[in-house]
Amino acid sequence: MKHFLDLTDWTPEELRDLIRLAMHLKDEWRAGGNRPVLAGKVLGMVFQKPSLRTRVSFDVGMLHLGGHALYLSPNEIGLGKRESIADVARVLSGYVQGIMARVFDHAHVLELAEYSSVPVINGLSDYNHPCQAMADMLTIYEKFGHLEGLKLAFVGDGNNVATSLLFASMRFGLNFSIATPPAYALPESVIVKAMRIAPDPDMITITTDPVEAVENADVVYTDTWTSMGQEAEAERRRKVFPPYQVNNELLSHAKPTAIVMHCLPAHRGEEITDEVADGPQSAIFQQAENRLHAQKAILVRLMGAYNG
Ligand code: CP
Ligand code: NVA
Repeated sequence: MKHFLDLTDWTPEELRDLIRLAMHLKDEWRAGGNRPVLAGKVLGMVFQKPSLRTRVSFDVGMLHLGGHALYLSPNEIGLGKRESIADVARVLSGYVQGIMARVFDHAHVLELAEYSSVPVINGLSDYNHPCQAMADMLTIYEKFGHLEGLKLAFVGDGNNVATSLLFASMRFGLNFSIATPPAYALPESVIVKAMRIAPDPDMITITTDPVEAVENADVVYTDTWTSMGQEAEAERRRKVFPPYQVNNELLSHAKPTAIVMHCLPAHRGEEITDEVADGPQSAIFQQAENRLHAQKAILVRLMGAYNG
């Protein structure tokens, strides 16, 4: 059973195929609508955390492809509380043809996949956010016409989004630099995994200096300083992270042609200023829309027989 849990589980060829299919499905949608290749199929969406983009884009994506999506809120399922994760997976597998799950602990989405007999898609865990990174690669491709050789600089917290961007960069041949405060670096295990799949170890730069990270970058990316589940640390983080704000001064060190990205939700005035988020280099709403198109490709490859 093929799942979509971690970009390192998919080969560069498979991931490139997803981007090609996403572009095709986007064009098809804009030209009048997608063919109902997922007719009669249902996606169960398990959420342990809030969501705007993930929830709506998966729901609308299924609708566009002729299928249906079911939203299962934290209160309804009680994943691992009301009943075991294994039992939730076994029961859901009898009703739906795919499961999308947003969880706190990455081990929980792995457990869902272990006991599910239908494909499982990771809609964000504390470890990574692979659907986001695919939408981001699609966006960067649309902006530059290629991915290989570009430089993506991530500034802020070494979190789930940064992890998936690092893996995506290695899979698609981008150079990746990251600047974080010393106590908020990417986990060592993530770096080790990325090094293993890196076409060249020099493609990864790890620093605490935001200016060094964005120097000559084509893409400047940031995310919240406090991820969902870390709310108790928010005050402490707000004291450490201000030097890592993406503002016009920091952006001036990137290439003049650089784009700015943020997975959203943004905390404007913290990790990103309004002038940058709403400025001419911002791609943040294009990348939000591309969640829809990138995920349609994932849904079709996992849940449908598609000949496009
Ligand atoms: N970027 C993202 O995953 O947004 P949501 O948390 O709103 O789904
Ligand atoms: N790093 C953020 C991403 C939200 C889409 C979080 O995990 O809350």
